[in-house]
Amino acid sequence: MKKNGLDKAWGGVFTESTDKGMENFSESISFDKRLYHQDIHGSIAHARMLSETGLLTSEEFQLIRKELLAIEKKIEKGKFPWSVSLEDIHMHVEKALIEKIGDVGRKLHTARSRNDQVSTDFRLWVRDSIDLLDRSLIALQKAFVGRCDADFDIVIPGYTHTRRAQPVLAAHYWLAYTEKFERDRQRLADCRKRVNQLSLGAAACAGTSLPIDRTKTAEYLDFEGIAANSLDISSDRDFALEFAFDLSQIALHLSGWAEEWIWWSTEEFRFLDLPQAFCTGSSIMPQKVNPDVLELIRGKTARTIGNLQALMVLTKGLPLAYNRDLQEDKEPVFDSFDTVLASLDLAAPLVAQTAVNRKAVAERLNRGYLDATSLMEYLIRKGVPQRTAHGIVGHLVRTAIDADLPLADLPWKTLKSAAKEIDKSVYQFLGAENAVKAMRSFGSTAPDQVRAQIDGWKKRLSLH
Ligand code: ARG
Repeated sequence: MKKNGLDKAWGGVFTESTDKGMENFSESISFDKRLYHQDIHGSIAHARMLSETGLLTSEEFQLIRKELLAIEKKIEKGKFPWSVSLEDIHMHVEKALIEKIGDVGRKLHTARSRNDQVSTDFRLWVRDSIDLLDRSLIALQKAFVGRCDADFDIVIPGYTHTRRAQPVLAAHYWLAYTEKFERDRQRLADCRKRVNQLSLGAAACAGTSLPIDRTKTAEYLDFEGIAANSLDISSDRDFALEFAFDLSQIALHLSGWAEEWIWWSTEEFRFLDLPQAFCTGSSIMPQKVNPDVLELIRGKTARTIGNLQALMVLTKGLPLAYNRDLQEDKEPVFDSFDTVLASLDLAAPLVAQTAVNRKAVAERLNRGYLDATSLMEYLIRKGVPQRTAHGIVGHLVRTAIDADLPLADLPWKTLKSAAKEIDKSVYQFLGAENAVKAMRSFGSTAPDQVRAQIDGWKKRLSLH
């Protein structure tokens, strides 16, 4: 075939060559080469469908398939030549195919545009990435749940406003994060349903006049559904934004946990001993052991949130259907995924290997009047109205602060004279450990409640 225009797949109409600066500016191969596997397998499914509907012969399909798999091997071996003049992964794969098999290769792009192709590749990639994240989230949940039995007797302070509030079982704390990461898993599973829709067949924006069968392509690529509007789906990036949000939510959960543990491992707290494998030293202060991984997990949340913001701004005000702006969708998503996956994969061993400093926790457990609410609820059970009980205990706490004593160590006279309802049974509810034991509501830190939750989690995570 004689070429009038440029040596580009789309060059026919062109009479001038592409500016080099423009070529460098508009390339995406430097980052979308990451989609090579999805691009190649999307193309194989497309070609297979074309052969089913008579747009390719089955010999042509077999040839295309064989060559595409050979290209994939070459890429995996690092032997594939990349060039900015070929713009993106789609052009690279197609060009290599045509170089090998000529006119048969020229048929692959039948009834397809790069607009529906890139959307399909990206969806396949996000789908795979969701599955990888799910595994890492489970590993982190296992690390938390895996601690619960050995730590079951540890009571720690629960905080609100970063002030000592009420005592909780350490296991209750481990399970709090297990729940958060469970919601993250659910969010990703939900996102996956919208990711898992076939866009291929939308072509540029209007569909095609050629006899394609999208149900077949969907089946070959394991898509749950077929997008019903070509204009919509060729421009749709909701799935990428949703995924980026879900990643941000994971990062936010990790950042709160990291912040907590940075403090809890300080000299001031001494609740936790971080494994040195996850710390670094100082170049000037010989005594330092710094919690760098936790700080970086916390810090990297910033870029994850920034990536989500970038995607929202990118898609704001974009008209239908495909616009080249959308090429900017991939790097933020790749970056958020890499960042969050790496954070999760470090968090899991850190959670498993960090030791609770039982002595340091226990020494200060009876400071801060963690049992004040327990005493108030004792009075309520004895018939004292809540507001009155609150006032009585508030006064007792003030007296105890002035005497620098825990509530349980106040003179019996003082306790007794605070309310006629108080009798010696009150001592069963004073002290952090007693306060925990007194709990009973569903979802509370009551030991039997927590035990039931641990058992439930072990079952769900097949931890036995
Ligand atoms: N590299 C492009 C992207 O990522 C592929 C689609 C280009 N489509 C086009 N008509 N120029 O969005």
